[in-house]
Amino acid sequence: MKPRQEQEEDEERLRQRKLEESLEIKSLRRIISAYLNYPEAAEEDVKRYERSFRKLPPSHKGLLSHYPLKFQRLRRCISINSYFIFSMLQAFEPPLDMSQDIDDCGELHFERPPNDGNVCSHESTTARGSCSKLDEACCGEPSNVMSKLAEGLTAIEEMQIEGCHGSDAGSCLAGEENNKMAAECCGNHVSDSNGNVPSSPRDWLDPSFQLHVPLVDVDKVRCVIRNIVRDWAAEGQKERDQCYKPILEELNSLFPSLCNKSPPTCLVPGAGLGRLALEISCLGFVSQGNEFSYYMMICSSFILNQTQNAGEWTIYPWIHSNCNSLSDSDQLRPVSFPDIHPASAGITEGFSMCGGDFVEVYSDPSQVGVWDAVVTCFFIDTAHNIVEYIEIISRILKDGGVWINLGPLLYHFADMYGQEDEMSIELSLEDVKCVAFHYGFEVEKEKTIETTYTTNPRSMMQNRYFAAFWTMRKKSAAAEKHST
Ligand SMILES: C[S@@+](CC[C@H](N)C(=O)[O-])C[C@H]1O[C@@H](n2cnc3c(N)ncnc32)[C@H](O)[C@@H]1O
Repeated sequence: MKPRQEQEEDEERLRQRKLEESLEIKSLRRIISAYLNYPEAAEEDVKRYERSFRKLPPSHKGLLSHYPLKFQRLRRCISINSYFIFSMLQAFEPPLDMSQDIDDCGELHFERPPNDGNVCSHESTTARGSCSKLDEACCGEPSNVMSKLAEGLTAIEEMQIEGCHGSDAGSCLAGEENNKMAAECCGNHVSDSNGNVPSSPRDWLDPSFQLHVPLVDVDKVRCVIRNIVRDWAAEGQKERDQCYKPILEELNSLFPSLCNKSPPTCLVPGAGLGRLALEISCLGFVSQGNEFSYYMMICSSFILNQTQNAGEWTIYPWIHSNCNSLSDSDQLRPVSFPDIHPASAGITEGFSMCGGDFVEVYSDPSQVGVWDAVVTCFFIDTAHNIVEYIEIISRILKDGGVWINLGPLLYHFADMYGQEDEMSIELSLEDVKCVAFHYGFEVEKEKTIETTYTTNPRSMMQNRYFAAFWTMRKKSAAAEKHST
């Protein structure tokens, strides 16, 4: 029998794990509820537009006689977006028992922020001024990976790309058919014109499990929708050319003769919806994306694993803002995705997405000196402590490995009014470089790249970043010893 002290320690560890797990479940329930609340919240917006319209004097109404039709069209677009969201949730396998940890009123009480990541902090402000930095949080991953999150976010699990399973009828419909069914999708109920549901809904998708979530959570769903355009639609190609192309070209020139036998390894922390990590894999790297937002991971998992064809899905990403539109048809234009079929894109074996907080996962001793390249795109400013990020990047790179970065320094935890004790170290670019030098990096290439981030290309407002791009190489231990 174990000594008493050891027993007590075991019990304490078990208690801690249970607590962590319960917080994880709450977090995930809140995020799923945010997705499920999308149609309702969007409907509320349309109702608000209608109320304003009704207040107009008849002479003004007469000038805008097309408005009632626009409201109808908006509702149809919301239905189609909801259909995609619902299909994505149906394909999602929660790793935890979702029926736990809810109080009698269906409300959640959070001891800590939900694990939703800061999915939209680089995005232009929406009409409602949302997508704020207020609920910064952490981690996420679908299926097997999320089960590890509850165990402390240290293990690295891999999500391999698979073809569409085809198990959920309705989730792999081709464009037209997909839209037809979507037109019947309303609230949490998705049915075709005969009233058939595409597949039996999961218990945790039942409306009775849905929680009331703040609108700011639903805004994160809208941000994910904009990220779909950035990563997976033809309309996002320009932005991808600005952000991802210079990185891919740099990798290509730094690793000119990739051989299938021992491909180099590349890590993409803060991988978002996974396109850059996939493109790097297609170049011939063993590529791993790391991402901690459940919002992002649920969606990237669906696109990477469940899509059957290019152009399989249609969404209306720009309907949520009436501001800066050149025309209603611009605002209500459909966007189809994915622009490529991920499973046929030519990935290199070993491609994976790893769920969890970059700091927790890659601080693990098993990660030391593992990577030939680390690529950060719009990521380093997500840190509480950017020095820690740089230290970890240096530690996990092999001697002579490269760090390619592109992005601004819009620190996610800066200006967190009202949120006490949120650490935020906000360095200038000059200081970022000094810290990198301290951790053994030397600059090989440096330039500024003008780019947008999840911007509507047809909007009258286009926020532009003058993003820092660099390639730094980690000096070999011997070289470093020599230089000090
Ligand atoms: C601004 S987005 C950029 C996404 C993608 N790299 C791109 O360029 O589109 C930053 C991403 O980093 C993720 N993220 C933030 N902090 C993270 C952390 N500590 N560990 C892992 N991912 C993180 C966020 O959830 C978000 O998806």
